[in-house]
Amino acid sequence: MMFDTLWINIHAATMASNGADGFGIIKNAAIGVKDKKISWIGPAAELPGKPGTLSDDVRDGGGKWVTPGLIDCHTHLIYAGDRAVEFEQRLQGVSYAEIAKAGGGILSTVKATREATEQQLYDAALARVKALMREGVMTFEMKSGYGLDTDTERKMLRVATRLRDDLGIRVQRTFLGAHALPSEYVGEADAYVDFICNSMLPVLDEEKLVDAVDGFCENIGFTRRQMEKIFKVASALGLPVKLHAEQLSNQQGAELAAQYNGLSADHIEFLDEAGVKAMAAAGTTAVLLPGAFYFLREKQLPPIDLLRQYKVPMAIATDHNPGTSPTLSLLLMLNMACTLFRLTPEEALAGVTRHAARALGFQDICGTLESGKAADLALWDITHPRDLCYYFGANPKAQG
Ligand code: NIG
Ligand code: FE
Repeated sequence: MMFDTLWINIHAATMASNGADGFGIIKNAAIGVKDKKISWIGPAAELPGKPGTLSDDVRDGGGKWVTPGLIDCHTHLIYAGDRAVEFEQRLQGVSYAEIAKAGGGILSTVKATREATEQQLYDAALARVKALMREGVMTFEMKSGYGLDTDTERKMLRVATRLRDDLGIRVQRTFLGAHALPSEYVGEADAYVDFICNSMLPVLDEEKLVDAVDGFCENIGFTRRQMEKIFKVASALGLPVKLHAEQLSNQQGAELAAQYNGLSADHIEFLDEAGVKAMAAAGTTAVLLPGAFYFLREKQLPPIDLLRQYKVPMAIATDHNPGTSPTLSLLLMLNMACTLFRLTPEEALAGVTRHAARALGFQDICGTLESGKAADLALWDITHPRDLCYYFGANPKAQG
């Protein structure tokens, strides 16, 4: 038989860039799957034979829509505890930066995560991942960064590895040792950076636990110079880099990421034109995180028009984390990208499919419905793909 599975009676939003409309719509489509990859996609009328002659497993989609499996390309899903108390404090007027400077924020999650067992972390993260999977998310990025010592960073990356293997999802494991300065290194940021460069990162890479390297480049995080040291080591190890950049102030972090052929620069509310140009030239993806923007009640919008003008691909992610974005809905982020950042529904949906794949360097593997790509098919009870951005607090995912 030509296909292991053949889907008929479906409408496809392929999200391929060569589509006539922004969604790459094929009405009355058919999709042939072989060896877990799409081997044929097009109008059903053009199938090379009668469905029953092409596959033993013909599935009737009942007129539903299919999109590429969604991709959450920036998450901190593995941690213990929560930060609801800080949420209350911020509502009383204390800022995120003030909480961080007082030793709360990221460091309070570090404390809880250091104390948790690997199994406790696994169980907590599993529930979160499953919630996102119910919305059609099939590919995840998962960061470490709540350990800030080798044992706890390893524990987090092992959980990411186990989730990948146990759930059959695609995962990029990102080392975020430069997330905050651990209490053992107060006043010695350079020494901590040296420890990352000379010990923690090479050790965890040697253990095959790291797929990419990230950092928090900010006045309450690490300087550009410190991040560059880490990027040099990452590059020497052959690991791609990305950066939390320009979230609260402009540190020219996106430019640094671009200089190291970064996969992405993330947040980027304070990014300027020079940074946008550098990203465009390097092919670095802009990852927009409307959940953190909303939850921190930020005012400064990312430079969407400049990103459009210089054709920088824009991805959207949950940034799920206990401090600034405790959301478990990528669909809600689609709506927020439209309402808060004024993205069009086409741009937003590309942001969790084609462009999110790019943000992970997975553009040849997933993110669009095209022959040769993974058969990550998400089925939806909707009347048009724009509906995925329109509803909020709803989940129109159909049973696959
Ligand atoms: O992406 N900004 C740094 N990292 C996270 C926040 C992590 C936390 O507060 O726990 C972010 O917003
Ligand atoms: Fe983040």
